Amino acid sequence: MERKDFIEQVGLSAASILIFGCMQGCSKSDSPAAPTPPPSNNNTTKAIDFTINITLNPYSSLNTAGGFYVDKTNNIIIARTLTNEFLAVSALCTHQQVLLDFQANNNRFYCSGHGSTFSTTGAVLNGPAATSLKQYKTTLAGNNLRIFE
Ligand code: FES
Repeated sequence: MERKDFIEQVGLSAASILIFGCMQGCSKSDSPAAPTPPPSNNNTTKAIDFTINITLNPYSSLNTAGGFYVDKTNNIIIARTLTNEFLAVSALCTHQQVLLDFQANNNRFYCSGHGSTFSTTGAVLNGPAATSLKQYKTTLAGNNLRIFE
C-alpha cells in the first residue's frame, strides 16, 4: 500500500468513527428526561410571609400612629392603630371586593362601596358584608414589620 492510499484509508475510518459517535450522541435515547409536571393537586398557593421597612416608601405611612398601607400585590391592608398596634387583614371587602380603608379614629376598617365596617380583627361590625376579613399576624423588629399567616 502506498502512502497516499494509507492516508485515505485512515482518514475514511476516522471520519466513520466520528460520524457514528455523533449519531449515538444525538440519539433520543440519551436525551435528558422530560421535566416533571407539577403535582396534580393544584395546591400551589404560598402562605403569606413578607417583611417591610416602615420607614421607607411606600410603607412610611405606617411609621405614624393611625397610618395604613394597602399592599395591592397581596391584597392586604396593613394599619397602625392610634395605640401603635399593627394590624393586617385582607384588603378587599367581602361584599363586592372594594378596597378597604382604615379609620384610625374609629379603630376599624371601612368599605366605601356600601359602608360595611370591620373590626381590627376583621370581624364584620356592620353589613352588607356578611363574611369576616382574613386576619394576618404581624411582628415588629426595629423598623421591620413582618406580615405572615
Ligand atoms: S363592597 Fe364593601 S360593602 Fe359593598
